[in-house]
Amino acid sequence: MKIAFFDTKPYDKPSFEKFGAQYNVKFKYFETKLNEDTAELAHGFDGVCVFVNDTVNAAVIDRLCAMGVKVVALRCAGFNNVDMKYAFGKIHVLRVPAYSPYAVAEHTMAMLLTSIRRIHKAYIRTRDFNFSLNGMTGFDLHGKTVGVIGTGRIGRVFIDICRGFGMKVLAYDKFPYEGLDNGDTIRYVPLEELFYNSDIISLHCPLTDDTKHIINENSLAKCKRGVVLLNTSRGGLVDTEALLAGIKSRKVGAACLDVYEEESDIFFEDYSGHIIEDDTLARLISMPNVIVSSHQAFLTEEALSNIAQTTVENITGFFATGQCANELCYRHGAAADCKDGKCF
Ligand code: NAI
Repeated sequence: MKIAFFDTKPYDKPSFEKFGAQYNVKFKYFETKLNEDTAELAHGFDGVCVFVNDTVNAAVIDRLCAMGVKVVALRCAGFNNVDMKYAFGKIHVLRVPAYSPYAVAEHTMAMLLTSIRRIHKAYIRTRDFNFSLNGMTGFDLHGKTVGVIGTGRIGRVFIDICRGFGMKVLAYDKFPYEGLDNGDTIRYVPLEELFYNSDIISLHCPLTDDTKHIINENSLAKCKRGVVLLNTSRGGLVDTEALLAGIKSRKVGAACLDVYEEESDIFFEDYSGHIIEDDTLARLISMPNVIVSSHQAFLTEEALSNIAQTTVENITGFFATGQCANELCYRHGAAADCKDGKCF
């Protein structure tokens, strides 16, 4: 099998080369992202392998199909960058539903601790031999209430970590996870109640029509003054202008963002020598109580290896049998995993 690999970064190659060699899948690595202008590069390939900021819209799908490309293998869990409705019946879309929920959940907690204990400030201060503690007062996590929106694989690991810190959990999910609510320290509540009562809010749901801008002016108005917002899920879950206004008005005490609504042209690239055109991002980064990482939460050795192995197994399994347990399907009007012709 020959697969065109888009948006290649140096850290992608070692694990894909390892598992590609094992399963006889040949990757051709392109640094460019997949979009209408670059789809032509997939000519002569059996499939394309793409990541979160590649564009798989109707135009790209049409070009891929016209060139005989059979498969879009996502090397990620989220698929909001794929027009699933349009893809249905035209091209097969495979994904990696889980590779390390620990990587993302642990990064979320790392960002939270960094923010509220001012570790980012301390690091810079002590390197300059400034040992003053002024402005460094944090707060205990113990006894605080964290609102977790989305209690899937990552959300549940994050809840476990929070419980280790002695926090109370208010959870919200469109499809609650059976057995998670213990009626005491972890409770499912309506979204409104979560907004009203959480000291910290962490987003772990996918980006869908339902969840776009789930954090907006209205929801922020319901939050406690000083609420800490964590987003390691997808940028579009947060209305960034509303967040910025919330930070300026001091309603939002701190924000930790691993994802950003307009990240696709910026994140993963080195712009240190450039003038950033995105004023909203620049303003956010200028705030002392905002921490931004560039979609880094997944980036652990374990996750990279799992991603490569599952992607390669998805591709080989699909070409061997015409089916794949990690195929996404749109048969019932919403994207779902598809196994043996059944959607889950
Ligand atoms: P998952 O599919 O296991 O869990 C998602 C949960 O969200 C499910 O329980 C689902 O019922 C719930 N959900 C769906 N619609 C909802 C709605 N309208 N309101 C509330 N909850 C809703 O997914 P997983 O593995 O936990 O990943 C969660 C998200 O994390 C992914 O969608 C992806 O966007 C993001 N992610 C970010 C990464 C990063 O590097 N920053 C890496 C991997 C995933």
